Amino acid sequence: MTSERIVDLRSDTVTKPTDQMREAMANAEVGDEVFWEDPTTNLLQERVAELCGEEAALFVPSGSMGNLVSLRTMAGPGDEVICDSDAHILNYEVASLAAVAGIQARALPGKWGVLDPDTLVSAIRPGSHTFPRTKVIALENTHNLAGGTIYPMDDIRAARKVADEYDLKIHMDGARIFNASVASGVPVSDYCALVDGMTFCFSKGLGCPVGSMVVGSADFIHEAHRFRKMHGGGMRQTGVLTAACLVALDTMIDRLAVDHLNARRLAEGIDQIAPGATTPFNVQTNMVLVTTEKLGYGPDEFVHAMGERGIRCLAYRRGIVRMVTHKDVSDADISWALEQTAAVAR
Ligand SMILES: Cc1ncc(COP(=O)(O)O)c(C=O)c1O
Repeated sequence: MTSERIVDLRSDTVTKPTDQMREAMANAEVGDEVFWEDPTTNLLQERVAELCGEEAALFVPSGSMGNLVSLRTMAGPGDEVICDSDAHILNYEVASLAAVAGIQARALPGKWGVLDPDTLVSAIRPGSHTFPRTKVIALENTHNLAGGTIYPMDDIRAARKVADEYDLKIHMDGARIFNASVASGVPVSDYCALVDGMTFCFSKGLGCPVGSMVVGSADFIHEAHRFRKMHGGGMRQTGVLTAACLVALDTMIDRLAVDHLNARRLAEGIDQIAPGATTPFNVQTNMVLVTTEKLGYGPDEFVHAMGERGIRCLAYRRGIVRMVTHKDVSDADISWALEQTAAVAR
């Protein structure tokens, strides 16, 4: 059986640009961005900096490059970045920190991606010529592998206290920071105020075809610009891309609340079909993690069975499949996905 109706729940990165974005892209004023001369990108960088309460912002091709450039700006070869063991920078960025930047990532046990201050302190290396130098604490908000969970403000404050005491920087991988902000009611600028630099993505729930941002102090961004070029991320007439991001700032942020409601409804529906297959209470933003055993399947088998019925989802980690809501998934699509889940459940 193969369905003609497709509901793609694999990721929010599958979102397609809106008509308004396409029109803005076609008409964008452009210039050479490596010379800081692209007016559309300059405007985006100014608007993002203002929104984040930061001095400056830099457009980068991807979240992965944003993380790499940020961390390379905060640390160098022989230095160590401490992070949760499920962090995206550790698991899904092809070991770029080690391979490209010469930085060692040290994995710490977190709870839903959150690190407690004692764990952080215990990982900080004593100053000695035999040890790597601990330079950065990296936090992820929302946390992808934990299922879109929000990093609580109190825990960020606790990490800040440790960072200040031990003279460390804090990097926030805020790929989905607007999901965190819309769901928690905490302005993005409040998150930024507690960290030294942050990366976020326009190419996920905000629906743009390409692009991420790095934000921070003017000095930090000046140096990040150099590392962006070093890593091959110096682009030219980026206005054709950043025009879509400007549209996203105006039209795509508030609507994330709809994705969160849809995710919650999906989780509650699956939980009714197979109690314990999801944890609706922990669906904080736009991701649902499904324990497929409860539906009578292994993850690959479940993905295949749902795929046959037009519902695309992703085998994620041991025993778990991920479903992500986004702007191209409607309320009716959620009902349809639930019907198909009920139909395949054993
Ligand atoms: C938490 C997190 N950080 C970084 C990235 C990397 O973004 P990109 O795919 O644009 O490189 C992702 C992508 O899914 C992510 O989920």
